[in-house]
Order: sequence, then C-alpha cells, then structure tokens
Amino acid sequence: MYVNVAVLKETHPHERRIALVPSVVGKLVKLGAKLHMQSGAGAAATLDDAAFKDVVSISDRTELVSDADVVLAVQPPALDVIDAMKVGGILISFIYANKEPALVQRLLDRKITCFAMERVPRITRAQAMDALSSQSALAGYYAVQLGATHLARVLPKITSAAGAIGPAKVLVMGLGVAGLEAVATAHRLGAVVEGYDVRPETAEQVVSLGATFVETDVDARGKGGYARELTAAEKAKIGAVVTKHIQQADLIITTAAIPGRPSPKLISTSQVTGMKAGAVIVDLSAEGGGNCEDTRPGETARIGHVMIVAPLNVPSLLAQDASELYAKNVAALLSLMMKDNIVTLNWDDEVLAKTVLTHAGKLHSDKSEHEAYPSNKADKTTTKTTVKAA
Ligand SMILES: NC(=O)c1ccc[n+]([C@@H]2O[C@H](COP(=O)([O-])OP(=O)(O)OC[C@H]3O[C@@H](n4cnc5c(N)ncnc54)[C@H](O)[C@@H]3O)[C@@H](O)[C@H]2O)c1
Repeated sequence: MYVNVAVLKETHPHERRIALVPSVVGKLVKLGAKLHMQSGAGAAATLDDAAFKDVVSISDRTELVSDADVVLAVQPPALDVIDAMKVGGILISFIYANKEPALVQRLLDRKITCFAMERVPRITRAQAMDALSSQSALAGYYAVQLGATHLARVLPKITSAAGAIGPAKVLVMGLGVAGLEAVATAHRLGAVVEGYDVRPETAEQVVSLGATFVETDVDARGKGGYARELTAAEKAKIGAVVTKHIQQADLIITTAAIPGRPSPKLISTSQVTGMKAGAVIVDLSAEGGGNCEDTRPGETARIGHVMIVAPLNVPSLLAQDASELYAKNVAALLSLMMKDNIVTLNWDDEVLAKTVLTHAGKLHSDKSEHEAYPSNKADKTTTKTTVKAA
C-alpha cells in the first residue's frame, strides 16, 4: 500500500516554481508516497525530470491527477484539474479563496479536501510549514537586489583614491517577514538602514538587525500579530514623522499589508515628488494594489526623478530557492497526515484543522471557523478521517 502523490506543472503566467524538489523526495517516499509529476514541471525552476529520482513523469495532466490521493501545486489549479481528481482526493496549494470563488465551488462539489497553504497558522509548531514566511523572506531579500540594480549609486560606503562615496540610505516600511529580511539584506550590503512599522514590537527586531527604528508613537496592533487599518488621525501623525525619512532615502522598500484588505497607502504622490532625484521605491505590496499612490502593479513607473518598481510574484523570480523552501513546507505539512503508507486526517491537530479550506463538501470559512471545523462533534462522530490509499 502507498499514497499516490501527483505534482502539477504550474500554468499561471510567469509562475516558475514547483511544489516538489529532489531533496524532499526521499522524505516523502519514507512516509509512504509513490510520487508522480507532470513532465517538465521543474523545468522553469532549473530542475529537469531526470533530477527527480524515484518520481514517475507523466505528460498527460488528467492521467496524472486521476489516480492521485494527493495533488501538490503552488498556484490554485485550473478547474479541469479538480474535475479530473478523485472525489474525496486531497489538494495542497496556495488558494486565496476570496479570489477564486469558482475553484472553491468546484472543490466543494467534488468533495476535495483542500489544504490552502496561506492558511497555515503562524504558530511556533507550524513554522516548518509556513510557506507565507518562506516565500516572503525570499521576496524581502530580492527587493533589495532589485532596488540596488535600479539605483544609479552604490549601497555601501566605497573609498577610492578619488575620494569616498556613500553609504546609501535605505528605508524599509512594513517590518513583517519580508521587511525584516530586506532590512538584514540592506544592512549586509553596507547601507544605512531605517525601518518603520505600526506594530511597536518591530522596533526591537529592527534594531537587532543593525538598523534604526522610525518612531511614530502609533500602535496599530490588530488580531493575531497582524496590523489593523489606521484612523485618519493616526495617518496624519505618521505622515508628520515619516515624510522626512522618505525624502532622505535613496531606496525605499515597502511591504505593508493588512489581512483581507487592499495594501495600505504609505507614500503619497506629494511625498514622492519631494524625494531625492534618482531615488527608487520597490513596492512588494503590488499584488494588493501597492503601498504607494503611484504604484502600477507589475510595472516600473517614473514619477519625476523617482522610479517605482512594483514586481508581481517575486518568489517566482527566485524559483530554485523558492521551490526548495515551498516543497519543504509542503512536505512538513504532509508529514502531519501521512504515516504507515496511509493518509490520516486528525482534525484535533490545530495545524490541519486551521489549514483546511474545504472538506467533505463543507467550506472552512474564516467567519464561522468553529461551525465549519471538521471535528465539530455535532457534525461528526470521529475526529479522524482515513483516506484509502492505492
Ligand atoms: N510562526 C510564527 O510565529 C510567525 C511566523 C511568521 C510571521 N509571524 C508574525 O505574523 C505577523 C505578520 O507577518 P507578515 O510578514 O505576514 O506581515 P504582513 O505581510 O501581514 O504585513 C507586513 C507588515 O506590514 C505592517 N503594516 C501594516 N500596515 C502598515 C502601515 N500602515 N504602516 C507600516 N507598516 C504597516 C504590518 O505590521 C507587518 O509587519 C507578524 O507579527 C509576524 O511576526 C509569526
């Protein structure tokens, strides 16, 4: 007996990652997986089919998923993938349900058990499965590289016989996982770094990375370690402090986000207008509309002498490392449900219960989390679901 696991080739435009890498194959095989992947699934991440020992390549996607107990992907799969899956099969992928109503409906109709990677709880025990963090950290690093290549100046202090230059001033706005990695990277590259966030606990974190915290005296801590939206008065208070730092910066990296809301606007057009000639903003929040009023998601805009770079799906640009970490996140999640060559879904496990999006035709929505909880005693007599394997 074994668990048939199928890995999809991504079809979203510009998506280069893959949900499996050769280094995790052995771990999954030990758990009882028989691995299959769509031919060429790793090519965009520089991984040839031949690099995947013990993994069977299948070119036809329908054939690949029709016999799978578990399907792995990075981006939400196409509807025909769900149609081809076994009723009651398992899907593990990023989903972002609010953007994918048709997909969610199909998952419900086909009674697919879907674990949405963005729902992995941000708790210590689930850190190894936290794909939001692994991918954000890479994006934070890459934002500094992007900024450096768009600047017409260097980040560190450089001394030559003709005299000394620099260092550049970097301001990181939003100090979550991506922001802190950006701070660390810019500091390593020799820039003078400042950080700003509306969660006061980030002050200590940013200082421990060798940067300075821009103190605004605003505390906008929301639920679950995330920020909440600011009031008009708080925005004005912050603007009065932050404008000076925006206008002194050579490079600004913005990463601010509020769960379920469009990206908060941290930089106005008038603040951009007052920035140094040649300054660069790298907006990592472009996916949610951007942190700058002038951000054009997916494009590079020029406002006067300032360049605003707003890349989409940054982790995909680092597909090799991003796939490595994502595949490890997925393997860690699978290790919670695969044992002795079968899949057992223990709904008393907080990580599984919070990550599941759909199960047995029911939506595990945020609003009615408890009611939709699969282990709800009124709904089920057992807290375990065993998936029959091949
Ligand atoms: N396993 C764990 O315990 C774990 C793992 C990862 C993250 N976390 C925590 O989860 C939280 C969210 O991290 P994330 O990286 O997903 O954050 P995120 O992507 O939701 O937001 C990025 C940052 O933007 C900030 N922000 C929001 N509005 C802002 C504004 N108007 N001005 C300036 N900054 C603003 C937020 O405070 C946050 O630091 C953090 O508290 C982080 O420490 C915990």
